[in-house]
Amino acid sequence: MSSLLAGKIAVVTGASSGIGRAMATSFAAEGAIVVIADVTEDALEGGAPTLDLITGAGGEGFFRTTDVAQWADVDALIAETVARYGRLDVMVNNAAIYSGTPLLETTAEQWEHVMAVNMTGMFNGCKRAIQQMITQEPRAEVRGRVINLGSQQGIVTSPRDTPYGVSKAGAIYITRQIAVDYAKDLIVCNSISPGKVVTGKPGLPMDPALMENARRRTPWPRLGHPQDIANAAVFLASDRATFITGSNLVVDGGWLAG
Ligand SMILES: NC(=O)c1ccc[n+]([C@@H]2O[C@H](COP(=O)([O-])OP(=O)(O)OC[C@H]3O[C@@H](n4cnc5c(N)ncnc54)[C@H](O)[C@@H]3O)[C@@H](O)[C@H]2O)c1
Repeated sequence: MSSLLAGKIAVVTGASSGIGRAMATSFAAEGAIVVIADVTEDALEGGAPTLDLITGAGGEGFFRTTDVAQWADVDALIAETVARYGRLDVMVNNAAIYSGTPLLETTAEQWEHVMAVNMTGMFNGCKRAIQQMITQEPRAEVRGRVINLGSQQGIVTSPRDTPYGVSKAGAIYITRQIAVDYAKDLIVCNSISPGKVVTGKPGLPMDPALMENARRRTPWPRLGHPQDIANAAVFLASDRATFITGSNLVVDGGWLAG
């Protein structure tokens, strides 16, 4: 094990699958204790539960069933984390869903569901984490670090998914607002905006038209791997990331540069 995150307590939402799973296992491999918060322990792409991967590699943490859209769930998640480990150093708001619909095909229910998970979920995670972090003594100048998952589709348009794109633009915005409002309290808040990352999850993400669009728009000769995003998250979670707050780290193989 390396030790870039030794002694840190981290919560990752949506960590049973995909990018969240890669972030959780990478944090643990760097020495963090990792709390996995998700509606299910099953990985959408298959394989062993994330907690088993972490403990099997000698790491530590726990899984807690959490619907990020529910304040009571997020409240209990952070309360249990602090009760077990005494503090919260890193909060990753990663859980998200999509509708796969443009404006005129989006029902009110779809809109509200995406907003509930992606936006209210991020609000809940940011608010509850920072409520805890501002009570903590600083370590290496910082009381706590928040990482929010945006998307390149919060910056450029999201083909066939208006609610998702709007929610991801909101993720980038709330990150900046929190960074500015709570810098004096030594809270660090950054976002990561992935480009197209192939997680192994079947369904809409593998839609041939969307894949073709992603390949055409991505200059790097492959699409993203979850580990690409996890590597960026390890950096932003670590004490190597100094004087960086309110930034949006784009990890997209050059999509946005084109
Ligand atoms: N995969 C990509 O190409 C890509 C690109 C840009 C941004 N992102 C962002 O990265 C993050 C992860 O994406 P992914 O592709 O790994 O997603 P995914 O669908 O593979 O995994 C999402 C996880 O979130 C969980 N989840 C869903 N609703 C939840 C809820 N209400 N409460 C708690 N957990 C919930 C799911 O069970 C799942 O484990 C998302 O924020 C997404 O917007 C992904």
